Amino acid sequence: MKLSSANINVLVKACRKAAKTLIRDFGEIENLQVSVKGPGDFVTASDKKVEKILIDELQKARPTYSILSEEIGEIVNDKSFKWIIDPIDGTANFLHGIPHFAISIGLEHEGEIICGIIYDPIKDEMFVAEKGKGSYLNNQRIRVSSRSKLKDCIIFTGGPKNNSKDASSALEEYKKFSSQVLVPIRKLGSASLDMAYVAAGRCDGFWQRNLSYWDIAAGIILVKEAGGFITDFNGEHQYIENKTILVTNSKINKEMIEVLK
Ligand code: IPD
Ligand code: CA
Ligand code: CA
Repeated sequence: MKLSSANINVLVKACRKAAKTLIRDFGEIENLQVSVKGPGDFVTASDKKVEKILIDELQKARPTYSILSEEIGEIVNDKSFKWIIDPIDGTANFLHGIPHFAISIGLEHEGEIICGIIYDPIKDEMFVAEKGKGSYLNNQRIRVSSRSKLKDCIIFTGGPKNNSKDASSALEEYKKFSSQVLVPIRKLGSASLDMAYVAAGRCDGFWQRNLSYWDIAAGIILVKEAGGFITDFNGEHQYIENKTILVTNSKINKEMIEVLK
């Protein structure tokens, strides 16, 4: 079954177009690793190029919508609709030639994310979701996992960045979760894909501090429509404001909150 709606079609078209550039540039990265200058500037330019393609496409299709995008910031227009864009989520992976990164775009309407896309161009995995219509991976319906004991679960996290003020709390949380699970915790380096993987049932739970709105916007609708839970570390709904996010299947949310206490 396919999830098809006017806004999803706009998102898919924009992503497919931008992905061509992204895939081509990723092919160049390996050569740049061994160059004296390294791939840093090239990746920054690529990020901006991909962002421009996405914005041009979205503006062509929806000229009145506002935009919040990681590299350029805000374009203020009709405030009731806003695209939230992360042109490359997983830049460090991209930079090092690791094929695990995504384009992530959510659409906010009156403060709520109503549809989104997370596209991993290298694996050609397209995750889409729309409010009330479910979550899909490459046109197949996806759902969160049904594992109910934390011990049996596969858990993801990300960070902390070396300059983060709460790095020690993040490391403490890592230690606590490590003692609860049989399979060691994963850190794959792309928060949007982490959330998409919870939606697809590949990962059972994910927690992280200090993510930005563009890292999680599309993931929010994907996880919700796949039957998952999103809260802050206290089980409350202020995960965007509080900058602590806990994303789980419907069974382990409470157990993970207990560990985070
Ligand atoms: C980063 C990734 C990473 C997360 C970082 C983000 P970027 O986004 O999502 O998984 O741990 O906090 O900043 O910089 O690659 O767009
Ligand atoms: Ca990001
Ligand atoms: Ca980014």
